[in-house]
Amino acid sequence: MKSVFMLPVLCTVIFVRVGLGQDFEPNYEESRVPDYALPDPLRFEHGGQVGNPEDWKERRAEVFRLFESEVYGKSPEWDGELRAETLFENPDFLDGKASRKGVRLYLKRNAKEIFFDVLLFYPNTGQPVPAFLGLNFYGNHTLASDAQVPVTQAWIRNNETMGSSENKASEAGRGKRIPNWPYEAILSRGYGLVSLYYGEVDPDFDDGFRNGVHALYPEEARNEASWGSIAGWAWGLSRVMDFLETEAWVQPEKVAVLGHSRLGKAALWAGAMDTRFALVISNNSGCGGAALSRRKYGETVGRINRSFPHWFAANFSRYNENESALPIDQHQLLALMAPRPVYVASGVEDRWADPRGEFLSCVAASPVYALFGLQGMPVTTQPPLDQPEMGHIGYHVRSGGHGLLPYDWQQYLDFADMHF
Ligand code: GCU
Repeated sequence: MKSVFMLPVLCTVIFVRVGLGQDFEPNYEESRVPDYALPDPLRFEHGGQVGNPEDWKERRAEVFRLFESEVYGKSPEWDGELRAETLFENPDFLDGKASRKGVRLYLKRNAKEIFFDVLLFYPNTGQPVPAFLGLNFYGNHTLASDAQVPVTQAWIRNNETMGSSENKASEAGRGKRIPNWPYEAILSRGYGLVSLYYGEVDPDFDDGFRNGVHALYPEEARNEASWGSIAGWAWGLSRVMDFLETEAWVQPEKVAVLGHSRLGKAALWAGAMDTRFALVISNNSGCGGAALSRRKYGETVGRINRSFPHWFAANFSRYNENESALPIDQHQLLALMAPRPVYVASGVEDRWADPRGEFLSCVAASPVYALFGLQGMPVTTQPPLDQPEMGHIGYHVRSGGHGLLPYDWQQYLDFADMHF
C-alpha cells in the first residue's frame, strides 16, 4: 500500500529536482570535457565535399534547415503590414551633435496588431551612417536619463535592482543601462545605435506562445519544430531592419546586429536568418549561442532546455544529455554568417557560457571563410586576456564576468571600422 502511495510523491520529487535542474553540477574542469567530434561544416549530408562558394550555398541551406528544425524552430514568413509612428524626436541631442527619436512599430496581421517601441540615436553628420542594432533587457528608458523616453509598459522579468515589481518596470530603472549601451562613444565614432526592449517582441516566460510576435500567427500549429522565443526575438530584429531600410539617416547595408547573453543567441540566429545584417556580434551568448554544445562545459543543452523550455524548438530537448546526436554544433551557426564578419566575445569569469567553447567554435567555423578566400579566426590557440583577434571572425576574452561592457563596445567599433 505504502509504495503505491509513495510513487506519485517520489515521481513529483524527481521531476521537480530534475525539471528545475537543482541538482545540476556544471562541469568547469577542462580535463573533464569529453572527447567529441564536430560535424564537418564542409561535408554535405550525402557525404560529398563542399569545394567552393557555389557548393556552400547548397550546404548552407542544409545546415540552416537543421538549426531551424532541431534548435530554434521555424519562423514564419512575414506577410503582414508594418507601420511606423514617431513618438518623439530630438534633433538637438548631446548639444546638437546627434539626434534621438522614438518610433513605435506596429505589426498588423489579419485581426491582430502588436507593437514595439524602437529607440534610435544617430550622429548629425547629414550623411547616412552605419549602425548597431540590439535588443535590450529592461526597457528603452534604461538607456535614457531623461523622461522623454517612456518607461516600458510591457511585461518585464522581475529584477529588484531595476526597481521593477510584479513584472512592471518603473522610473527606478531609468538610465541604469547606459553603461552597457555607451551611445556617446558610439555616436562619436560615427555610428548610429538602435535598440528596443526584447519583452515587447516576445515576453520571456513560458506563455504557451500566446503573446508577442507568436500571437500574430495563431493558425500556426505548434509542433516540435515551431519557433521558440529566441527565434521570435530574432524575427523581431528583422522587422526593425525592414523599418531601417526606410530611414534616411542609416546605411541599411551597414547594420551590425548585436546581443548579449540570451539576446546574443538571438542576434546570431537573426544573422543566420536574415543576410541583410552585414555584421553579427555575440556577446557572452554561451550555450545555444556561440559555445560548442558537445563540450558540456558550464551550461548544457539539457540544463538550458529545462530552465528555459520556451527559448528553443521542442526538438532541441531530444539532445538533452545526448549532445553527440546533434546533427550540427554551434560552430556551424557562426559559419552561417560567412562571408559576412562575425564577432564572438567572452568574459573570463563567465564560465557558465564556456569562453573556450566559444573560441573553439570560431576556429571550427573558419574553414567556411577560407572557402571564400577569407581569414576567419586568425589564431588557433585562445588569445590571452584582453587581446582581441580580428579576422573575418573576431574574438576576445576579456577580464571580468558576464556583461556587455564599454571594453566590448570598443572592440565592436574597431571591428566595424575594419569591415565597413
Ligand atoms: C541564464 C541562461 C543563459 C543565458 C543567460 C542570460 O544564465 O542560463 O543561457 O545566456 O541567462 O541571458 O543572461
